[in-house]
Amino acid sequence: MDDAKALDARHVLQTYRRHPITLVRGEGVRLWDSDGREYFDLLSGIGVASLGHAHAALTAALTEQAGTLIHTSNLFYHPLQGQLAERLSTLSGLQRAFFCNSGTEAVEACLKLARRYWYQSGEERTEFVALNQSFHGRTFGALSVTSEPKYREPFAPLLTAQFVPPGDGEALASVVSRRTAAIIVEPIQGEGGVRPLTPEFAAALNETCQQTGALLIADEVQSGLGRTGVPFYSSTIGLKPRLMALGKALGGGVPIGAALIDEEVAQRIAYGDHGTTYGGNPLACRAALCVMDELAGGLMSHIERMGRLFESRLGAMAAKHSAVTEVRGAGLMWGLELKTDAAPVVARGFERGVILNRTAGSVVRLLPPFVISEADATDALARLDLALEGAEG
Ligand SMILES: Cc1ncc(COP(=O)(O)O)c(C=O)c1O
Repeated sequence: MDDAKALDARHVLQTYRRHPITLVRGEGVRLWDSDGREYFDLLSGIGVASLGHAHAALTAALTEQAGTLIHTSNLFYHPLQGQLAERLSTLSGLQRAFFCNSGTEAVEACLKLARRYWYQSGEERTEFVALNQSFHGRTFGALSVTSEPKYREPFAPLLTAQFVPPGDGEALASVVSRRTAAIIVEPIQGEGGVRPLTPEFAAALNETCQQTGALLIADEVQSGLGRTGVPFYSSTIGLKPRLMALGKALGGGVPIGAALIDEEVAQRIAYGDHGTTYGGNPLACRAALCVMDELAGGLMSHIERMGRLFESRLGAMAAKHSAVTEVRGAGLMWGLELKTDAAPVVARGFERGVILNRTAGSVVRLLPPFVISEADATDALARLDLALEGAEG
């Protein structure tokens, strides 16, 4: 056992079932382990390394920022937080941003701001509605709107939440009431198996919120910021959120999350209602501004183009391998639904030098870096194709 594994086994809380490799270096879409083996990274650290690894502009920006100012706390202004908030506001149409350090904190902020909104109005609207197969994070609020019992049960009791099947407008209408503070949905359910919501269900969500006053929260932590070839998948399906949670791709690997909020909801917050020591510090904002610059500088259209390539190659793989029953996703967010457990395919992918992920048991998930080239995508997908051989079983 190498040092990293031995120390982990002895001293790190054993909550992650890790693959038995130690990653030591990356460049673009490639990663190297401690034995010098090379991998194509089709996962980006679960949708985070949006610019790939050791990206030149991000490295230069972070190096410069680290030598200038890393952290100030939110007791003071610094030049970058307002700039980032403005960029996100322009991109989303939601006026204000609250910065934090992870996806779950962004969700937590959205849930708290929804509660705060109704508290101000004097109405007792404290409940949340979410979807089956949802995943919103591990903190108590986010966990409360995450559906899977395996995540929830050891930590009950949680906040009051009701769950409805995605696509079922009638079930939605029957549970949303004047006690509902907010409905939270992932426009593409990520951990739940890469399941895009339909435009029809988005319309039902908009309608239900309109009729009941419930606030609509879009969790775009995984699907947002260019991942699907557009800034936010909400717009693709016509979903009209009042609040939005962001994370993952935003910092290109530097931890940062953001809750985006429309002006009416934002107006109900008072000084001191919510906060975080690190949230939106200069280093994290610098990273996010660099990601935003890249997206504005042609990366979004590159994702769209690569997305079409993934769609057609994965479609061809599904036609060839009877084990693949469905291909779902958009842009650079894809899931291959298998008839069987996806773990052996992921393991064979590792053997062939491609990093994939299993989610929802039978789904092989792909979240490659936005910068993946056509040549690298072709090579990496050919390895996935080989990894699928034998899955027919
Ligand atoms: C849709 C969604 N929301 C929230 C989270 C939680 O983000 P984090 O792990 O950064 O707390 C995730 C993480 O996978 C996610 O996919």
